[in-house]
Amino acid sequence: MNEVAVVKNQILDVEISDLINNGMGLVKINGYPIFVKNALPEEKVQIKITEVKKTYALAEVLVIYQTNPYRVTPKCKIYDQCGGCNLQHLSYKYQLMMKTNFVKEALVRIGKLDVKVNDCIGMQDCWKYRNKTQVPFGVRNNKVIAGFYKENTHEIINMDTCEIQDALADEIVNYMKFLAQKYSIPIYNETEHKGNLRHIIIRKAHVTKEYMVTLVTKEDKLKNENKIIDDLVNKFPQIKSIVQNINPQKTNTILGDKQKVLYGDEYIIDYIGDVKFAISSKSFYQVNPIQTKVLYDQVLKYAELTGNETVIDAYCGIGTIGLYLAQKAKAIYGVEIVSDAIKDAKLNAKLNNFNNAHYEVGKAEDIIKKWQKENIKADLIIVDPPRKGCDSSLLDTIKTMKIPHMIYVSCDPATLARDLNILSDTFNIIEVQPVDMFPHTSHVETVVLMSRK
Ligand SMILES: C[S@@+](CC[C@H](N)C(=O)[O-])C[C@H]1O[C@@H](n2cnc3c(N)ncnc32)[C@H](O)[C@@H]1O
Repeated sequence: MNEVAVVKNQILDVEISDLINNGMGLVKINGYPIFVKNALPEEKVQIKITEVKKTYALAEVLVIYQTNPYRVTPKCKIYDQCGGCNLQHLSYKYQLMMKTNFVKEALVRIGKLDVKVNDCIGMQDCWKYRNKTQVPFGVRNNKVIAGFYKENTHEIINMDTCEIQDALADEIVNYMKFLAQKYSIPIYNETEHKGNLRHIIIRKAHVTKEYMVTLVTKEDKLKNENKIIDDLVNKFPQIKSIVQNINPQKTNTILGDKQKVLYGDEYIIDYIGDVKFAISSKSFYQVNPIQTKVLYDQVLKYAELTGNETVIDAYCGIGTIGLYLAQKAKAIYGVEIVSDAIKDAKLNAKLNNFNNAHYEVGKAEDIIKKWQKENIKADLIIVDPPRKGCDSSLLDTIKTMKIPHMIYVSCDPATLARDLNILSDTFNIIEVQPVDMFPHTSHVETVVLMSRK
């Protein structure tokens, strides 16, 4: 192991060698890595060490002597304080190049795979893309604020506008701050576990332009509830649903179990392509609707469906990927661990009159094994696991199932590379396509097409 090469508060002049996948610049001193916030490759900078660990150190930039030509001024006014984006100081073109590299590098280093990686597909307009806004309330100088937590803290930074969120959602948040002040709503204080109004969550249906507002409270009762509802819907007729979610726990988890509809429907309706989806306040739904279609079109293209195929949609959430393919397949089998999501998936299948979609609640690793025993023969399996990747027993089952094609949709290049390495004795990797679902952050989504050897 490389020895610790620095001490806390040390000031050093260094040249950044790389950008790593959490958006930080990297410099190594005698093999010991230092991760530098807001620093880019090829930059000569003066840094201050802020934290020293056995295997790495963290640092901040004090002076930039030589600037990377792709460095840009961040659009966001609170970029330095907010932990939401970490690549706004990099031009969008370079962000995409970096994301392609993150995937390539992970496949080589972790996956031991030497395969071609296509250029990351970016957005034409890479701002204001998010369809979901979720912010906590707080109080500063007797004024209601709402915004983001300062990076690695629970201190709320007030936000009037966010460059990656929907503009109308920002207006709704600002208006809700005003209403909370006007009607003297007690704001939740997480240290003391007192007060009532905790969070506001706004969802926008990209195609229908319907909005859903969820107010998270500690208590069942919301003071001046009717006045708040009237004011919100009068000012923003786009709001089709207002939900109160009650979370009485002292916890970092935002949503509680109990909720009630205060206004309108329990769902708002959105479309991805021609497929209709009902979105509830608790549904997992991709946050970048434009790129979701790009991602799903890539899956559809790789799937090469003729109408005779049986497709397994593993980690299916509310069924979006499978239902996007359902019109062109014989049957879809979806599995997901969250039972509410499966309820939504079944509703979504019904909404589109798809009678060929079957869903089960459970762990993908258990249910797919069960399907194997039931002799369900799939022509294609799609996996879209969370960041930790697929369970190794699921990969073993997939290998023995003799499924001709597999599509892996991944939100973490490292676990993707690990899993592809495991699969590589059974499957050939045909194509690797990164898609940028989260501009200005270092996250990257990847779609991989594989065929059985
Ligand atoms: C990245 S999301 C994908 C959702 C969906 N495919 C989509 O595009 O909206 C991963 C999903 O896997 C689910 N999940 C996590 N672990 C699981 C497991 N062991 N078996 C089945 N589903 C699981 C999560 O609840 C989540 O809905």
